[in-house]
Amino acid sequence: MLRVLDGERLSTPPIWLMRQAGRYLPEYRAARAKAGSFLDLCFAPELATEVTLQPIRRFGFDAAILFSDILVIPRALGRDVRFVEGEGPRLDPIDPAGIADVAARSRESGLVVQELAAVIETVRRVRAELKRETALIGFCGAPWTVATYMVAGQGTSDQAPARLKALSDPEGFAVLIEAVVVASIDYLVAQLEAGADAVQIFDSWSGVLGPEAFRRWSQEPAARITAGVRARVTGARIIGFPKGADRGIAAYAAATEVNAVGLDWSVGLGTIRRETEDRIVLQGNLDPMALVAGGAALDAGVETILSDMEGGRHIFNLGHGIVPQTPIAHVEQLIRRVRG
Ligand code: CP3
Repeated sequence: MLRVLDGERLSTPPIWLMRQAGRYLPEYRAARAKAGSFLDLCFAPELATEVTLQPIRRFGFDAAILFSDILVIPRALGRDVRFVEGEGPRLDPIDPAGIADVAARSRESGLVVQELAAVIETVRRVRAELKRETALIGFCGAPWTVATYMVAGQGTSDQAPARLKALSDPEGFAVLIEAVVVASIDYLVAQLEAGADAVQIFDSWSGVLGPEAFRRWSQEPAARITAGVRARVTGARIIGFPKGADRGIAAYAAATEVNAVGLDWSVGLGTIRRETEDRIVLQGNLDPMALVAGGAALDAGVETILSDMEGGRHIFNLGHGIVPQTPIAHVEQLIRRVRG
């Protein structure tokens, strides 16, 4: 995977899956039960290491991804973050005093990394246990996506609360975004120094933004993160995943200088490859539902991706996270097909 990130063309693409450690695996559910809550699992280095390695042992993916969550950043910035069983994350919706407080905390030297010491310890342990040929990916949420949860206090279908905040109080929202930028730089640098080989910036909600808002709240903060990280870790390998960015992908890649861009399944890899004149390393983009469906639908989805990216620079992945109802046999079928 690192060779592709560095620009090499391989005849067989490396493969990993977003959310590859998760509820579709019985061994994950067992570790999760042992930990208690989901956040307890994220902050227990021994169990988090085990869970990170589970999909590598079972499937031999080319990369492991640190087991954690994007919402550990708001927690490190002093926000209360809970995960409600069967519902998802819950935070206290942030107000202007809260924004001032997280901005101050983000600037306190060493604070975020100290709050996330258990996660950094997981990175160290995973890297020590992985074979050299398996890459370790660290990650953070993109400031826009993290901010949507901080503003609404939960996931919403269209992120209307955060879009409204950005429009009605752009100065206040900019302070919140900048606090997450500063914290994310420190956090990614700590992950790279602890042994992560690459990091991914997950912008799961960039697709709800219009072109101008996308540039301001998704693209520019990601560019500040890549520049900030590389100022401290020379040549740091960074993958951007601006989900739903569609026509904004070429500009995003140019502005952020990421080593690869992850695509969701709403765009054809072949289309983006042509539009960007084969200059960008692309990651993705099988519909997670094709992996649930299996059979001919899965094979056809894989064939399209492989033929679109033939002779190109490609990291095989889903277009978004694997879902809990995915049959393990279908993951095995996918890997056989890609490697065969
Ligand atoms: O990819 C991996 O295997 C690494 C681990 C990882 C998780 N979350 C574990 C997780 C990563 C990279 C994330 C990122 C994340 N978290 C994102 C961005 C990527 C994406 O999927 O859009 C977002 C938006 C979150 C916030 C989040 N975490 C939500 C909305 C939820 C609830 C939805 C759900 O699936 O339950 C989570 C929980 C979560 N994060 C789980 C896992 C394995 C499920 C928790 C459980 O075990 O019950």
